[in-house]
Amino acid sequence: MTDRERFFPATSMPDEDWWRMLWAEPQHVLKRLGLQKGMQAVDLCCGYGWFTLPMAQVLGAGRVTAIDIEPAMIAAAQKRLQALNAPAVNWITGCAQELDKALPPQSQDFVFIANTFHGVPEKEALTRVVHRVLKPRGLFVIVNWHAHPREQTCVLGRPRGPATELRMPPAAVCAIVEKAGFALQKQVELPPYHYGLVFSRQ
Ligand SMILES: C[S@@+](CC[C@H](N)C(=O)[O-])C[C@H]1O[C@@H](n2cnc3c(N)ncnc32)[C@H](O)[C@@H]1O
Repeated sequence: MTDRERFFPATSMPDEDWWRMLWAEPQHVLKRLGLQKGMQAVDLCCGYGWFTLPMAQVLGAGRVTAIDIEPAMIAAAQKRLQALNAPAVNWITGCAQELDKALPPQSQDFVFIANTFHGVPEKEALTRVVHRVLKPRGLFVIVNWHAHPREQTCVLGRPRGPATELRMPPAAVCAIVEKAGFALQKQVELPPYHYGLVFSRQ
């Protein structure tokens, strides 16, 4: 299968002008979702590194792995972090479904996927891959758009985010992730349009 075929549908990276309107304080978001010093963490489908930067700033050099299938996204993320003298990150250009080939089993404390899970064709299979790389009690954190109609989620005067029919209510995510060996720890509201789910690996 080519990288084009592996690309999760409806998960292109948004432009930075409106992304920063939604995610003005990504470090605060990550901390609310359980990121803590001392952790080993993954930014799964990292885009241009909007969340990778604060993750590396909180955790320090060598503690963050960031993966994206688009070489241009990895290059943009590297450039962003270098410009700000961020701590070193382990960059992987590759498919999220193969995370368990890139990292040792039970090696991570925190796996974070933002704005992408809605488009993953095989969600339970991806969750099982995440399960393999997490330590027992490690956290799998999913940030999604709320299942509001797309025309109601406007930023800078235009409807944004995935098509209405792709959006998932939290209960639909829980049903998949819990089947793959996780327990929901908490749900966090991320206004105006997102929620975060924190799952603990059983
Ligand atoms: C909507 S963006 C979100 C980026 C980042 N998580 C954020 O919230 O700022 C989704 C990202 O997933 C990446 N992606 C799509 N399919 C992928 C796959 N199979 N494996 C890894 N990354 C993928 C895209 O290249 C894109 O950068």
